[in-house]
Amino acid sequence: MHAYLLDQPAHTLSGEDLAAEGILYWNLPTDEAGFADPLQRIRDDRGYVSMDQVHLDPNTPDLDALLTKFFAEHLHTDEEIRFVVGGSGIFDLRNREDRWMRVHVAAGDLIIVPAHKYHRFTLDDGRTITCKRLFQDTAGWAAVPRFAA
Ligand code: LAC
Ligand code: NI
Repeated sequence: MHAYLLDQPAHTLSGEDLAAEGILYWNLPTDEAGFADPLQRIRDDRGYVSMDQVHLDPNTPDLDALLTKFFAEHLHTDEEIRFVVGGSGIFDLRNREDRWMRVHVAAGDLIIVPAHKYHRFTLDDGRTITCKRLFQDTAGWAAVPRFAA
């Protein structure tokens, strides 16, 4: 994980800085034997009921359209939990001053964006990520855009 203020990249952000903004972050082992137990503990502690896995790469159909959607600023009424198991990607999250915090995540990074925190996502130059997504309630999980499309 490498995090910084998007408009001031020399201003790096630590895990504690992110925690102060309500964002939780763990670095777990990248192999299943290593991450299985800590991931299960987080699932149990936080009441996540379901999990799936998404993969994006340059061969993904309609990748550009997907990225346009993910990069539109939005929030959710539930947490957004992403555990990166391969590749890497970029989350931009609004801090309390409405400035973007850019969080570059890679394999082993687990990030929890709190409910009602505006954010957006995109790929980096590697254009590839594999993430596990966890949900507290799949029924209510939808994106709420900040600005009209
Ligand atoms: C999501 C990410 C892109 O909502 O923020 O799936
Ligand atoms: Ni989201």
